[in-house]
Amino acid sequence: MNTITVSAFAKLNLTLDILGTRPDGYHELDMIMQAVSLHDDVTVTIHTGKAWELTCEDPAGNQRPGIPCDERNLAWKAAQIFLQATGLPDSGIAIRIVKRIPDQAGLAGGSADAGAVLQGLNTLYGTPLDTEALCDLGAQCGSDVPFCVLGGTARVKGRGEVLSPMPLDTVQHYVICKPDFGISTPKLFALSDQYPAQKHPNQEALLSCLRAQDAEGAGSLLCNVLEPVAALEHPQILSIREDLLHSGACGARMTGSGSSVFGLFPDEVSAKQAAEQLKTKDYSVFYAHSV
Ligand code: C5P
Repeated sequence: MNTITVSAFAKLNLTLDILGTRPDGYHELDMIMQAVSLHDDVTVTIHTGKAWELTCEDPAGNQRPGIPCDERNLAWKAAQIFLQATGLPDSGIAIRIVKRIPDQAGLAGGSADAGAVLQGLNTLYGTPLDTEALCDLGAQCGSDVPFCVLGGTARVKGRGEVLSPMPLDTVQHYVICKPDFGISTPKLFALSDQYPAQKHPNQEALLSCLRAQDAEGAGSLLCNVLEPVAALEHPQILSIREDLLHSGACGARMTGSGSSVFGLFPDEVSAKQAAEQLKTKDYSVFYAHSV
């Protein structure tokens, strides 16, 4: 087998807390991350016998402007890191990404593609690495990549590389709204240093509500300390939250460093109805469930 297609799932931050700054310049985080059904399709081909190739288009076949198709792309970087770590010879790699996850959105779109490349190459080469080793390689690509390799629901600490899986038997239903501006992750983290958080997440209480399928309870416990900081420059984040709450969400928050805002709904029908209703607004809207 020379080719494999892997689903690269977007992630939501059900919580994001900053515990402090680290000597390496990153921030010490404590988060609950959730993989959701919104995904890119990443096709990896090995032994092409040609120069490396990366293509990225939307499902209609249109190029996605602003996404680099060379070594600047995290997916390309992931393939380089995989070959380096395993010592496998380079016989030509092609990566084809069909992109649905918006970029600069806090949904880990680029990180998900990188995670999918690591998983795809590992399968094509006969599984030389276990999940833990793949997550370690992911951490060399970017802070969100280890979670993207793991998937599911997890408590994520450190820079993003300390993962504790928190499998849930329940399925949650979300509506994700992406305004037409993006937010720079390094800039937002830097700005957050000037505005210490007033409110921190209650991680354990949220997990208990999710396990009990208590969407009302879970909705009230969604928390992202970066959201008030992002809203200083982008008040639209707060108005999107209001839109989601008016559409029946039990709770709504920005994910990661934004700019997407998501709402948690009591069930699939109400989430899909809200998604339909919000499509008239001036932002992109996606329905997604937990995976
Ligand atoms: O690791 P990654 O390249 O995705 O991180 C992007 C930027 O986000 C970092 O350069 C840093 O400014 C910020 N960041 C942080 N603390 C983290 C993760 C990311 O400050 N734990």
